[in-house]
Formats: sequence, C-alpha cells, structure tokens
Amino acid sequence: MALSNHATMMNGLLTPKDPQTVADAAALIRAGKLCAFATETVYGLGADATNVDAVLSIYETKGRPRFNPLIIHCADLGMAEELAVFSPLARRLALLWPGPLTIVLPARAYNGLADVATAGLDTVAIRIPDHPLALELIAAVGRPLAAPSANPSGKLSPTSAEQVRRGFGGRVPVLDGGPCRSGVESTIIRVDNGRLVQLRAGAMAREDIQNALGMPVEVAAHDAAVAAPGMLASHYAPNALLRLNTTPQPGDAFLAYGNAPKFDGPTRNLSPRGDLREAARNLFAMLQELDGAGVGMIAVSHIPDVGLGEAINDRLQRAAAPRT
Ligand code: TXA
Ligand code: MG
Repeated sequence: MALSNHATMMNGLLTPKDPQTVADAAALIRAGKLCAFATETVYGLGADATNVDAVLSIYETKGRPRFNPLIIHCADLGMAEELAVFSPLARRLALLWPGPLTIVLPARAYNGLADVATAGLDTVAIRIPDHPLALELIAAVGRPLAAPSANPSGKLSPTSAEQVRRGFGGRVPVLDGGPCRSGVESTIIRVDNGRLVQLRAGAMAREDIQNALGMPVEVAAHDAAVAAPGMLASHYAPNALLRLNTTPQPGDAFLAYGNAPKFDGPTRNLSPRGDLREAARNLFAMLQELDGAGVGMIAVSHIPDVGLGEAINDRLQRAAAPRT
C-alpha cells in the first residue's frame, strides 16, 4: 500500500486523509513511522518497539529530554511472553489484562526490542490495552508497540484524537477511537520475588488489584518509577565507572563521539560523523560492549547537549552518578 495515499503532507500538515483505518495506521507503523492511537487510558504515540529509529522518533517528536523506558503494548499474552519472563504470580496478575495495568517483568534476552525502548534496562513494562482499535492495531502490525502518551513533553496527556492533533500541530497521524474511557494512565506494578509493588498509581485501583489477587500491593517510594527508572536498579549502571567530557587514560575504555583522538584500549565511537541520532542508536549497546571488556573506567567524549544529545547526556550522567 502506498503510504502517500494516507500521509500526504500539505503545508506541513496532514491532509484530512489522516489515517482512519487500522490498516492505514498499521502500514505506517510497519514502515517505521509514528501513529498515535486510542487506548482506554490516554492516546498513545505508537511506534514499532523493535525498530530503533522509529522509537527514537518518539523521543524527538515528544521533545523528551531523557530516555525514559517506554511501555510496550501487546495484543495478547503470547506476544507478551515473547518479551518477558512470567512467574506464576505474574501470570495471575496478567489475568487482569486487557486493562489499564502495566506489569514490569524481567526481559527475555534477545527479545527483539530496541534498547532505547527499554532505556537499556533488563526489565520491560508491558500492557495489553482494553480498547478494540488498539488491540486490532497491534495485531495488524504484528509487533509490540512502544507508546508513551501522545503529547509534547511537559504537556497534558490527550484523551481525544483532536487533542493529539492540536498538540502536535497536525503533524502526527491519529487512529481515532473516540474519547478515552479513563483519561488517566495505567497503573504500573512490578512483580518482584513474590511481591507486588506499585510504581505508579493509575487507572486500575490498587484495592481492586489486591482484591483480585488476594494479596497486598505495596507502594514504592514516592515517584520511584517516574523520577529515575534508570537508577532504581543497579542493573542499569555499568560495572565500570564513567568519566564524562574527557579523553581516555591508559587502562580505560573509550566511548568516543565524532572526530575523537585515537586510543589503544577498547574503543567504540557512537558516531564518527557526529550524528546524534546515530549516537543515540548505538548508546546502550556500545556502553554494554565496553563494560564487557572488564575495565575499571570508561572515558566518554563530549556529546553536544542539543536534540537527542540531551537524552544521551541524561543517561550518561545517570550511569556516571555516584553509586550507593
Ligand atoms: O496508560 C498508559 O500507560 C499510557 C498509554 C498510552 O498506554 N502510556 C504511558 O506511557 O503512560 P509512558 O511512557 O508515559 O509511561 C512510561 C513509564 C515510565 O515513566 C516509567 O516510569 C515506567 O513507565 N516504566 C517503563 N518501563 C519500566 C521499567 N522497566 N521499570 C520501571 N518502570 C518502567
Ligand atoms: Mg506521559
């Protein structure tokens, strides 16, 4: 299907042919484009969660200054089980799907998700939304969708297609599913060694989850999930220490950017030609590779703090922060 049929740009705005069918929206997303879509909570800005460039477009379009891990939306339990390991307790919690409930679980190795979607964590936040159009869309794409709320960073979450269009000046296509039933984001629960911990209060009441499972749901320290997901768990931080804005010393590993000095030790260059999008695409994998070299210190080049550079620097600063 020719994309130009439904995504024609005119004066920088989408024409009224703005995708209206699930097939249109699915074709856009399969081609690596973004499409907003209705869920029962708020509208999501959806992208193929296995496509690094598509996920990077989410951050750029929202103007999000950091790589927060995104919620991965699945069509059914089978799709979810390809991404994460479900304990017996997680399986019981998943009986509440579809619904405004996001479950944080250990990620499966090689699950195909772009690591910018999970911000390099070894856990993944999954949800099966309770909205017929959203479910049809994910099934039609045939891949999990990464989707934060479909608003520019710092603005309110949209609960209608019109609000999404206005928020992005008409530049984001929308699969219109009418007004959202709940209007608040999903409740996020981490399943942790036989315990349930609420990381974000949301549209599914904690009491309802407790009653359904017949066990307590603890509340995580205030805003733990939202404030600093990358620092919650030691699993994000590399084993090596990081030194930023610098050049390497003998014995270091070197995470370079652009036209960097030559170095004898383990070296990766995020983008020799100084392209921030390429750097963002390589960030998590290269950090892991250098960390795997077993050095004590990773020296990191200066990264310009513009565009995706902001998100890259945010992540690097977190990885370099003093360890507790
Ligand atoms: O209702 C919703 O949940 C909406 C709709 C579109 O589904 N989506 C949404 O996504 O609110 P977003 O990206 O705004 O929320 C993502 C939040 C992150 O800020 C983070 O707190 C949490 O989910 N999160 C994601 N992955 C996580 C992980 N591995 N561990 C802990 N928290 C995680
Ligand atoms: Mg949001």
